[in-house]
Parts: sequence; C-alpha cells; structure tokens
Amino acid sequence: MLLIRRETDSDLDAVYTLIQTAFATAEHSDGTEQDLVVALRSSDTFIPELALVAVADANIVGYIMFTKASAGDQTLLVLAPLAVLPDYQQHGIGSALIREGHRIAKELGYGYISVLGSDTYYPRFGYQPAVQLGLEVPAGIPAANFMALKLRPEAPPLCGPLQYAKEFGL
Ligand SMILES: CC(C)(COP(=O)(O)OP(=O)(O)OC[C@H]1O[C@@H](n2cnc3c(N)ncnc32)[C@H](O)[C@@H]1OP(=O)(O)O)[C@@H](O)C(=O)NCCC(=O)NCCS
Repeated sequence: MLLIRRETDSDLDAVYTLIQTAFATAEHSDGTEQDLVVALRSSDTFIPELALVAVADANIVGYIMFTKASAGDQTLLVLAPLAVLPDYQQHGIGSALIREGHRIAKELGYGYISVLGSDTYYPRFGYQPAVQLGLEVPAGIPAANFMALKLRPEAPPLCGPLQYAKEFGL
C-alpha cells in the first residue's frame, strides 16, 4: 500500500539519504541533489504543500519537490528532484508522486510546471518541449529535455527565459 503525503520535520534525514541513494546510480546526476533539496527548503521558492514523500512498507521510498520559478511576470513551478529508492523503482511510485504533485499544484492555482529531464519519461505525464509553450531554452540544454506542462487551460502563454531559484545555480 502506497501513501503519498507532505514531508514533515521527522522525515528530513530519511529524505536526504533517499535522494543520495537514488541519484547514486542515476544516468544524470552531479551527486548534490540531496543538498539542493536542503537549500531549497529554506529558500523563498519553497512550497511546503509540494514537498511530498511516498511511504511504502512503513518506509519513505520516494520523494518529489516542486519550487517556484518565474518567466516574465508569471510564477510557475519547477519539478526537481524526483527520486525513488532503487529497490522500489518500476512500481509506479515516481508516476504516483508526479500525479499527486500535479493535483496539488493545480489546486494551488499554478498554471505551468517546468522540468529538465528525460524526454521519454515526462511526456507521459503531459510535458512537452517548453519552447512550444513560449519558454526560451537555456544555453547548453537540449531543447527536448527542457519541458513544461500547462496545468490550467486559461493560463496565459509563457515567454522569456525561466528564472530558476538561485539555489539551482543555473
Ligand atoms: C526516475 C525515477 C524517479 C522513476 O521512478 P519509478 O518509480 O521507477 O517510475 P515509475 O515506476 O512510475 O515509471 C517507470 C517507467 O519510467 C521509466 N524510467 C525510469 N527512469 C527513467 C529515466 N531516467 N529515463 C527515462 N525513463 C525512465 C522506466 O523505464 C519505466 O518505463 P515503462 O513504464 O515504459 O516500463 C527513478 O528511476 C529514480 O529515482 N531514478 C534516479 C533519480 C533520477 O534520475 N530522477 C529523475 C531526474 S529527472
């Protein structure tokens, strides 16, 4: 049985280790994703409702965070990171975290989410190349991996470069 809920203070150590473990064998990683999460939590881009853990077998096995970013005068979300413990991968936990995050983000009124990642994984959740929604592709990033999802049909078009939280160092 899988439960997805907001992280609490008592989860923080487990979340740190989980992210470190999941990214240790990831195709793309700089090895600091767990520290990025610590930094984002104390930034003004942090949204407590959108820092979610997945709990299975009474353990935290998955994690997702969405933080605020901007493009022109619009605030949007950035999905990063997403991590599932290796022993629990391929069971739909990453998908469940993404879908629950989308549900909450929509409820909170956000119009768009951006993600930098696999162009075979994220499109199944509705992400498309962000350039098609008006965002400029950052220098050095393949356009196919810089994706965005329009959450609300009435959201105005995006334009300009995406301004990430400074903690991303981008
Ligand atoms: C990416 C990740 C979160 C997926 O979690 P998960 O719970 O295994 O995902 P799900 O079970 O919901 O989905 C599994 C599907 O995603 C695909 N998938 C998993 N990781 C992928 C990746 N890095 N690139 C492309 N596809 C991937 C699987 O091949 C599988 O495809 P299928 O349904 O066609 O068989 C997990 O593999 C992970 O933590 N990886 C290490 C950290 C990482 O790379 N995070 C993403 C940063 S963009």
